[in-house]
Amino acid sequence: MALFSPVKIGHHSLKHRIVLAPLTRFRASSEGVPTPDMATYYGQRATNGGLLITEATFISQLSGGFPNAPGIYTAAQIEGWKQVTKEVHSKGGVIFLQLWHLGRASSSSMLPNNERPVSASELAIPGKNRFGEPNEVPRALTLPEIHATTQDYVKAAKNALEAGFDGVEVHSANGYLLDQFINSSSNKRTDIYGGSIENRTRFTLEVVKAVSEAIGADRTGLRLSPWSEFQGMEDETPYETWGYIVKELQTRLSGLSYLHIVEPRVKFFTDDRSTATETLDPFRSVWKGAFISAGGYTLDPEKATSHSEATGDLVAFGRAFIANPDLVERIRHQWKLTPYDRSTFYTPGNKGYTDYKIYENRQASL
Ligand SMILES: Cc1cc2nc3c(=O)[nH]c(=O)nc-3n(C[C@H](O)[C@H](O)[C@H](O)COP(=O)(O)O)c2cc1C
Repeated sequence: MALFSPVKIGHHSLKHRIVLAPLTRFRASSEGVPTPDMATYYGQRATNGGLLITEATFISQLSGGFPNAPGIYTAAQIEGWKQVTKEVHSKGGVIFLQLWHLGRASSSSMLPNNERPVSASELAIPGKNRFGEPNEVPRALTLPEIHATTQDYVKAAKNALEAGFDGVEVHSANGYLLDQFINSSSNKRTDIYGGSIENRTRFTLEVVKAVSEAIGADRTGLRLSPWSEFQGMEDETPYETWGYIVKELQTRLSGLSYLHIVEPRVKFFTDDRSTATETLDPFRSVWKGAFISAGGYTLDPEKATSHSEATGDLVAFGRAFIANPDLVERIRHQWKLTPYDRSTFYTPGNKGYTDYKIYENRQASL
């Protein structure tokens, strides 16, 4: 079965293709320091030769804001992550850290000196934020600030290696800073970072190149979400825009450890299935390296097997992996999955975090 056949990720040889998708859980300390519970949580989901991608992690103080989301820019955060990487490695797992900058999804109440959040352009996310207030209008990053932010990604990637990670995943998906530059709905710049596809994708490609040069392409992955509508994302030409990124990567950065793309119109904040007619096939046919497909497998676990069989993809699970620490064994043996509890996705404490059970009745029951 393709899903349980080996595959190379950079210089790591994985033993199967089931991946823990990046999942924000807000269980770090108020200083963004990973806790012993986080080591337990990731350790529970680690398997020999399996890939875990961490929750999105702030690259600098200015990149963030959400309380209890982790960072990778202070000495204490690096130390905190060491307990996580140690625990995962003791089980034979491979772990990449996802690098995060919120851009306009932040707010001045969460930033140092109440600074305004930044983005590609002075355009707020349409609608209200999670506190019921209108989203704040960000200010547009200047050219020197774009270059400085690229260096923040580089520094964070180096810190990740110091913390024991096997690599990093640049988060350029789901409406956060890099995605705000890519999508035509949120980028109205008139300089070399706006307008044409080449210009709107420049920031992401520069970050991936700079991180690859600093820590090695074989330790660098990238996440994209061409059809995500989360946080006001919309692009006039998704196939062309993300097709350009993938073509550029294949031409200039084909040694990247993997490309990770979210399936069209997957909505993880509802329990609905995607009814998309779009497909990642055009990107998959250009990219020759390891390819991770994410989204939709939680609601349709059997699809992971058939999809991997048909494409050779690695398959990332989000919500199902939250509720099933032994997901890899459950899929292997077709054991029943425990349903996830959405009400504890983002709440403090162990409930819905480290207390999900492994499968007890070890009989085929799917
Ligand atoms: C609680 C929760 C937190 C998430 N946090 C992140 C994140 O930090 N970074 C990211 O790229 N995607 C994040 N996602 C999206 C997931 O990685 C994944 O793409 C999505 O859940 C679809 O996969 P699924 O159908 O298997 O759940 C999150 C999803 C959920 C449900």
